[in-house]
Amino acid sequence: MTELTSQKEAALAAISGADTLEALDEQRVAALGKKGWVSLALKTLGQMSPEERAQAAPAIQAVRAEIADAIAAKKEALEAAELEAQLTSETVDLTLPAPDTVSGSVHPVSQVMDELAEIFADLGFAVATGPEIEDDWHNFTALNMDESHPARAMHDTFYFPDAASDASASSSEAVGRQEGQMLLRTHTSPVQIRTMKEIAKANPGGAPVRIIAPGRVYRSDSDATHTPMFHQVEGLVVDRDIHLGHLKWTLETFLKAFFEREDIVLRLRPSYFPFTEPSVEVDVGYASEGGRRVVGGSGDDAGHDWMELLGSGMVNRRVLEMGGFDPDQWQGFAWGLGVDRLAMLKYGMDDLRAFFDGDPRWLAHYGFSPFDQPTLSAGVGARA
Ligand code: DAH
Repeated sequence: MTELTSQKEAALAAISGADTLEALDEQRVAALGKKGWVSLALKTLGQMSPEERAQAAPAIQAVRAEIADAIAAKKEALEAAELEAQLTSETVDLTLPAPDTVSGSVHPVSQVMDELAEIFADLGFAVATGPEIEDDWHNFTALNMDESHPARAMHDTFYFPDAASDASASSSEAVGRQEGQMLLRTHTSPVQIRTMKEIAKANPGGAPVRIIAPGRVYRSDSDATHTPMFHQVEGLVVDRDIHLGHLKWTLETFLKAFFEREDIVLRLRPSYFPFTEPSVEVDVGYASEGGRRVVGGSGDDAGHDWMELLGSGMVNRRVLEMGGFDPDQWQGFAWGLGVDRLAMLKYGMDDLRAFFDGDPRWLAHYGFSPFDQPTLSAGVGARA
């Protein structure tokens, strides 16, 4: 029995000296495992006489219990220490500054589009959309530009190759392409046709229309003032007894709200567009202040220059007809304006190409916070 006692003393010392859970488990296997010394001692009971066994068994069982208790106690202590170490090493210092997060901004073009939608919503206009991949009929023919129309050649159209024509033909050969040809729309004007057709479906002969159509348009053109993709906002108003006076008032009211000033001066110049008759080009007066263009009249006409802003006019009878409207019952006006140019003018950027370079520094400088909406200090109603 002295051997068992000394084995026990040695084991208890090793258990209390174990400094990791792994080391402790080695001690458990060495004592209580299948081939551990406690298990071997228990096996010797089988060869003993009943008297010897009656005496030896309780002693061995007691040693086993003592070892098992010591292991359990040590295990608990080691686990507690491990948790404590983890808690101290993983402390979060809430006083440290948070890491920088990169926040996006609203592109000036999106900003201006939103501002336009807001202003025209005040005037009772809905927003209409149409496809950027358009067909020849909606983009040209229905707008009174048939295949031989010279204005068609001025649009520098991006055509899609199709089965019937030579895919390698360049866009300069565009005039005279057959109907059904797909293209990237060169203006937002086809949305006029799509909108009227849709309305005429439910209201044969026509019904009042008041929409704007903002969106991307494409032309094969690129320099400091032209990019192959740019943005327009189309406007269309159709009703009974609509005349040029309504057009002028609408554009004036819009520009006052957009530039947030009352002294906006407009000049309407006779012009020509196939889809309007008569057609006017609208210029806005501006002055140079500190090397920057500032929209507004500085007293009299002599004090400012004119900048071309948009094309417009009374909707051509043939266009109304193409849209399914009766031109003897309905009249309307329309306009198309360049959003990018409007953004440059209001927010003082000078190179159109920077709009589409995707340079984060430019966007950080000219972009708008998404949390500052709505953006205009006063709507149209507030100025009436
Ligand atoms: N679609 C023309 C363009 O892109 C702009 C335009 C002019 C639109 C007159 C109109 C309009 O609706 O009436 O050059």
